[in-house]
Amino acid sequence: MNPSPTPAPSPAAPPKIAVVDLWKSFSGKPVLKGLTVEISSGESLVIVGGSGAGKSVFLKHLIGLIRPDRGRVIVDGQDLTSADAAVGLELRKKFGMSFQEGALFDSLDVFENIAFPLRRHTRMTAAEIADRVRECLELVHLPGVERKSPSELSGGMRRRVGLARAIAMKPEILLFDEPNTGLDPITSAVIDNVIVEMREHLPVTMVTITHDMKSAFRIADRVAMLREGVLIATAPPDEFRRIPDPYIQKFIAGEPLEEEVA
Ligand SMILES: Nc1ncnc2c1ncn2[C@@H]1O[C@H](COP(=O)(O)OP(=O)(O)OP(=O)(O)O)[C@@H](O)[C@H]1O
Ligand SMILES: [Mg+2]
Repeated sequence: MNPSPTPAPSPAAPPKIAVVDLWKSFSGKPVLKGLTVEISSGESLVIVGGSGAGKSVFLKHLIGLIRPDRGRVIVDGQDLTSADAAVGLELRKKFGMSFQEGALFDSLDVFENIAFPLRRHTRMTAAEIADRVRECLELVHLPGVERKSPSELSGGMRRRVGLARAIAMKPEILLFDEPNTGLDPITSAVIDNVIVEMREHLPVTMVTITHDMKSAFRIADRVAMLREGVLIATAPPDEFRRIPDPYIQKFIAGEPLEEEVA
């Protein structure tokens, strides 16, 4: 009997984002030391690591807010690091980002905060903008808060408004810097659920930074550990949990890490 023909291997889909040998120093102090990682279209990559490891600096390179000293960030096959201003702007439109610092405008109400990128970058009508704002608030489980000011909201609600603003432009890539930091475990789990649900509803590629391993395991397809500017491991959650590296095991267990025990 003839063996059934082996199907030809399908060519691997090109990565949504390819980071190649990324280096960055500030005032002579190296922060990123040759990072290389590929992120597939539709993947949720979570970056974990101690304070000062370079996580936020890494995320800001992905969207072109910081230029590397060396190395490249390639988005949909286009080099963001060497792109001219016009191409850079087009590439940046693919991204939505919620910053660690929160960054809502306190002088604007929730509606205007979320409408801000829509007014600025689209020609949507007032009615279309209102629909979109409502839709985004529903996705983060905060219907009806349009007319509240950010200062009237709790930390967890503000964080969710930040997520709603990040998705307003229907970006292809979402970057979240510490969406759960400083929140109680229940609110933190609510935010994780919002992120998981957003992925189910939107065809997005996501890169999320967190300190919180529980949260990382909930939302990641792959977890990457950044230590002192180097990616020391990248693996799906189940595999990541079993990596025998003592630093990683201590991090997962929430035990003090050498460089933090001064
Ligand atoms: N714009 C900047 N100018 C100078 N140094 C910077 C700048 N941004 C970051 N750094 C330094 O780079 C290092 C890494 O910072 P980064 O913000 O990426 O850390 P992190 O891993 O996000 O930490 P955390 O978990 O505390 O947010 C730190 O030593 C920080 O002081
Ligand atoms: Mg940070």
